[in-house]
Amino acid sequence: MKSDDINSSTTPDRTYPDLHDHLDTLRSEGLLLTIDRAIDKDSEIHPLVRWQYVGGIEEHERRAFLFTNVVDAKGRRYRFPVVVGALAGNRRIYCLGMKATPEEVQPRWEQAIANPIPPRLVETAACQEVVITGDALKGEGNGLDALPIPVSTPGFDSAPTLTATNVITKDPDTGIHNHGTYRAGLKAPDRLVIRMATRVGGAGGYRHYLKHQARGDTVMPCAIVLGAPPYVAFVAPQKLPLDVDEMGVAGGLAGEPIRVVRAKTVDLLVPAEAEIVIEGLIDLTQLEPEGPFGESHGHVALEEFNMPMRVTAITHRKDAVVASYLSQVTPSESSAIKRVAYEPMFLAHLNRTLGIKGVTRVTMHERMTALRRITIVTVAKGTPKTEVWRALYGATSFKADCGKICIAVDEDIDPDNSDALLWAMAFRMDPSADLQVLRHRSPGHGPEREHEAEREDSTLLMDATMKEVLPPLALPRREYMERAKSLWEALGLPKLRPQSPWFGAAAGDWLPAWDEAAERAAHGDYLENGRISEGRQRAGLKPETRFRPDDDA
Ligand SMILES: Cc1cc2nc3c(=O)[nH]c(=O)nc-3n(C[C@H](O)[C@H](O)[C@H](O)COP(=O)(O)O)c2cc1C
Repeated sequence: MKSDDINSSTTPDRTYPDLHDHLDTLRSEGLLLTIDRAIDKDSEIHPLVRWQYVGGIEEHERRAFLFTNVVDAKGRRYRFPVVVGALAGNRRIYCLGMKATPEEVQPRWEQAIANPIPPRLVETAACQEVVITGDALKGEGNGLDALPIPVSTPGFDSAPTLTATNVITKDPDTGIHNHGTYRAGLKAPDRLVIRMATRVGGAGGYRHYLKHQARGDTVMPCAIVLGAPPYVAFVAPQKLPLDVDEMGVAGGLAGEPIRVVRAKTVDLLVPAEAEIVIEGLIDLTQLEPEGPFGESHGHVALEEFNMPMRVTAITHRKDAVVASYLSQVTPSESSAIKRVAYEPMFLAHLNRTLGIKGVTRVTMHERMTALRRITIVTVAKGTPKTEVWRALYGATSFKADCGKICIAVDEDIDPDNSDALLWAMAFRMDPSADLQVLRHRSPGHGPEREHEAEREDSTLLMDATMKEVLPPLALPRREYMERAKSLWEALGLPKLRPQSPWFGAAAGDWLPAWDEAAERAAHGDYLENGRISEGRQRAGLKPETRFRPDDDA
């Protein structure tokens, strides 16, 4: 956003929620768990919430955790509460923040990108109720040290790390502000180190960094927002086209201008209702080792040189809440916040931009593979092979760092069930005919040391759809499974967590005569089936010769 694009007003009001409003909504929906006992931010908060993602809890049962009594190992007490999972603990939490149903998420993004609403500049703002600058930022217990920033991966991370960030920088040529969710490790009460991905398709903020360097600047102004209003928080990890005014898109999502205020010590505009804003200058002449830090690709990111920032001010609301994202191995809050927005965006790209007929769903595999590596394209029955392949090419090329492995499947395959995917690959794919390897892919986000990664990766495309009509899935029909479930429960057996697929259906290569025979068998009348088949005995055939009752009619 450029300053002259801004609606200026001194008496603004708003209807979009800030983080406090959003937490109230989560509370009233039973989605906010408040923990009042003392909890150590460095060794307990993230492991506790992690159990939601590795403890067999269903996605829809996940909640946000609000910790009101935060301490550290040294017994220090923090005045601010910490919330984890508040923006995308699960899909429903994200949708409440968007004020949208899951189906409305993609149209909302499209509408907001097509019709951005410029932010409105205000003179006073909640995020600047308290302003700390100068020497007050220095010394143990002051500055960043006063904020209860959790350690995300205790046992591996070397620092409390900011995760739920909107890192704001400005293009020195155009004045357009960028918001990105980038991590920042704390180093001193007035210094932290930010990591902006330098890979193709990486951080927009890094492009600003390079532009400033090219101009001979020695520092780049930066503001790190913690706890932005949900619409603003959501634009930061979203894959928006380069140079899109992200505050305008947030306004488009909200349906009204987002209120912004001038930062106190850097020439940047920050969301007025943010909980906390850390202002500072990124050093363009020096880099500092940062990490190790548990990464979303599933491996710990080892130490690497990243961007030191000297803090020039911390501003905050008096009643600030510190938001932290649960990231690292997926599924996580980090993958949830991306997945709800990325999947419909990919589907819209294939269906509308490329005009491919027959794609019904795009799924980015989440558990451990972190969305970017494996993309599943679901196609409707009868989709021509050429369209299946166009969908695979489209899915792999849409974003530089997504879709290293793309698999096309039929609608009967649950793309969230890896076993079902392997089943489709095992029985519906002939590797010599249905598989392609394409060269020249950027390595993307992974455990490879990215600064050393001049090497190229490649792409694997698989058509695991049925090439002929196959018989139904060999599980009892739904009515029998449901009846048996009631029986199971009546017997007091352990609680069931049904996993798809859990019933078969009369689809594919299946005849009415077999339906009738199955009906008779299930009702104890197999002898009638025996009488019918006896009348069809034949001589001179090899065992295992196919028989179809319709041919016999
Ligand atoms: C929890 C979380 C942490 C992230 N950490 C980083 C990071 O440290 N560096 C980075 O470049 N991208 C990180 N990302 C991904 C970026 O936010 C994402 O690529 C986004 O599109 C960046 O916005 P930009 O295109 O404006 O740079 C993270 C995303 C999430 C959700």
